[in-house]
Amino acid sequence: MPSTVLVGAQWGDEGKGKITDLIASDYDYVVRFQGGNNAGHTVIHGEKKLALHLMPSGVMYEDAVPVIGNGVVVDPGVLVKEMAMLESEGVSCKNLRISGDAHVIMPYHKDLDGADEKRLGSQQIGTTKRGIGPCYQDKMGRKGIRIQDLMDEKIFRLKLDAVLAQKNPVLEKIYGLHAYSVEEVCEEYLPYAQILRKHVAETGQLLNDALRDGSSILFEGAQGTLLDIDHGTYPYVTSSSCCAGGASTGTGVGPKAIDRVLGIQKAYITRVGGGPFPTELKFAEDGGVGQDAADGELLCQAGHEFGVTTGRKRRCGWFDAVIARYAADVNGLTDVALTKLDVLSAFDTIKVCVAYECDGKRYDYFPMQQSVLFHAKPIYEELPGWKDVDITGCRDYTELPEATRSYIEYLEKITGVPMSIISVGPDRDQTIMRGW
Ligand code: GDP
Ligand code: IMO
Ligand code: MG
Repeated sequence: MPSTVLVGAQWGDEGKGKITDLIASDYDYVVRFQGGNNAGHTVIHGEKKLALHLMPSGVMYEDAVPVIGNGVVVDPGVLVKEMAMLESEGVSCKNLRISGDAHVIMPYHKDLDGADEKRLGSQQIGTTKRGIGPCYQDKMGRKGIRIQDLMDEKIFRLKLDAVLAQKNPVLEKIYGLHAYSVEEVCEEYLPYAQILRKHVAETGQLLNDALRDGSSILFEGAQGTLLDIDHGTYPYVTSSSCCAGGASTGTGVGPKAIDRVLGIQKAYITRVGGGPFPTELKFAEDGGVGQDAADGELLCQAGHEFGVTTGRKRRCGWFDAVIARYAADVNGLTDVALTKLDVLSAFDTIKVCVAYECDGKRYDYFPMQQSVLFHAKPIYEELPGWKDVDITGCRDYTELPEATRSYIEYLEKITGVPMSIISVGPDRDQTIMRGW
């Protein structure tokens, strides 16, 4: 199998975990390249749903080596707990490799994430409060602490001492929060180092050697295109490069090694947290009314749209082809996996946003100006649905109702990208392979 980047093509939660788990057995390595435990990827293990936050979803297969690349930010306490959870479910983590260059989420990062959100008031981003933004800030500000530093007690203490001299006054004087001593952080973090030590590796070299030996890599993206720090709806984004380009910087593997870029798209769209969302069907509690509020509620309930990481109700809306075309360009998508198509069986007719309108101007391409995006009115095409037909048992494309196939083919036509995987339920086998 050629090396592949798998990316979210919307605002996250597109079903990346399911698709990674589905195709991981075709690859020798499954690598996370950005983000941290803000991600919540659901995989099905036997009868159980497992939520993975840091571990690459490929961990479910013993033959695929799961790798946490240099671009990831690692909360070591969370990772240790996740490994224990997986082991207790009979999933071995013995092959896990962690880059020594990955940055460590420290206790003050989590405190500052929460405090910063409070400060923003009504303009808050709605972060997961896992310390992601503050950790990447320190990385870019060149005062981060890396996994390799955590592995060396002397260096860890030295770096921590220097960084606390700067963090503690901010925590105490600006936010009225607890200031940390080197000792108390060491007490919590050094035991993690003992557990993780045997997994730390030169992952860049490991992956490049593997490619030379003819092995294949699946790069598992977290979050999604519109949460990307550069290409997303800034500042309502996460702090990492979630687009396909991030796979290269976040692992140390050159872009020429990437043969295929699979975008994951839901058959509708969701978003967690603040920021613009043109096709949003506002819930009644957020001021929505009439048919739109009812449709939004139906998408949320039929799709079980509640966050894996935070449990928050996800904002829901119709499929947005403007976003899909943008994601195709920004990531260089070669094909798409369309997920949660079964959820649309709840509707008589289905809307698809083909362009936006703002101040009398039509936008077929994703607008650069955030103010346009905030005020954009979707221009919809309304397609016939396949109401109440249960498609979760379909395994071949020809078994789908005609209206469902027309919906898929319409999306392919207006987004310009072939849909090679169609997902009709959360289980691994509830999938139609279509030229994958
Ligand atoms: P991720 O963050 O992109 O990995 O996605 P999440 O795991 O946060 O959210 C996707 C949710 O949809 C999970 O609960 C999955 O089990 C579920 N799911 C994935 N694919 C399908 C599908 O085709 N149909 C249905 N009904 N659920 C799906
Ligand atoms: P997966 O990988 C959906 C959102 C948060 C918030 C913004 C910034 O499961 O698709 P952060 O904590 O990253 O600083 O929050 O990004 N966000 C996600 N939304 N799915 C995710 O991950 C997300 N990770 C972060 O809700 O709006
Ligand atoms: Mg998720």
